Amino acid sequence: MSGDLLMVEGLSKRFAGRGRSVRALDDVSFSIRKGETLGIVGPSGSGKSTLARVLLRLIEPDAGRILIDGEDWRSLSPKALRHRRGDIQMVFQDPLSAFNPRTTIGKAIMDPLRIHAVGKRHSRMAALAELLQRVGLSADMASRRIHEVSGGQRQRVALARALASRPRLVVLDEALSALDVSLRGQMLELLVRLQRDEGISFLFIGHDPAVVRMISHRVAVMDQGRIVETGDADAVFSDPRSDTGKALIAAIPTWR
Ligand SMILES: Nc1ncnc2c1ncn2[C@@H]1O[C@H](COP(=O)(O)OP(=O)(O)OP(=O)(O)O)[C@@H](O)[C@H]1O
Ligand SMILES: [Mg+2]
Repeated sequence: MSGDLLMVEGLSKRFAGRGRSVRALDDVSFSIRKGETLGIVGPSGSGKSTLARVLLRLIEPDAGRILIDGEDWRSLSPKALRHRRGDIQMVFQDPLSAFNPRTTIGKAIMDPLRIHAVGKRHSRMAALAELLQRVGLSADMASRRIHEVSGGQRQRVALARALASRPRLVVLDEALSALDVSLRGQMLELLVRLQRDEGISFLFIGHDPAVVRMISHRVAVMDQGRIVETGDADAVFSDPRSDTGKALIAAIPTWR
């Protein structure tokens, strides 16, 4: 087999509303290799976050297959899923909403380690210190609460928590979009370094084509629940074939 970590075939998801329904995902197929970053771009409402949430098993698709390392992700038993859940982790745009405001950052990062029963307590503490260091945070961050730290630090905390379960794939849904330019640059460097050192794969959802191009090996363009174009990041961004891709590139401010 090829080096595919993730293979997605024919994913579909329809949301039924009153009187109307939305095809949030419409026969979506793609793959991501080990150590590869696939960027996802597309207009608002095109289905990017729905795709992310289906991969995380936060919502059930109506149809389609998800294979992780050749294993059928959707038909894992609850027990098998408990063991494998850490394989795919997610970082959201707004980490505040994903953290309990009353708990310390250290505890929030450690929770997945406890759930996955990784090591004994003292070795988990060592793992926590190492995780914080890996994302460029000082050890005293562990005793603070999420609302007591800056936006850039929050995103690093969220990344540390995602990394705690040693994921094979991290889904970043607009994870850097709220950061200012220099913090975003630092996070991009951090992600690239993590990927180089550990072979993690990323699914990187973003609205800024310049940022997505910087980090992605390949890019998929989504529109109305479908992938309308896919290819090497440089090719898609320098010479988009789809109308959606052309419109996204045309929307980049030229003064940048
Ligand atoms: N829980 C839900 N119930 C009903 N409709 C939903 C739900 N979640 C998403 N949708 C609809 O599905 C479509 C895709 O939404 P999704 O959030 O995946 O888009 P997106 O590409 O992430 O957009 P954005 O760039 O604004 O984040 C939209 O039409 C949205 O309104
Ligand atoms: Mg979204």
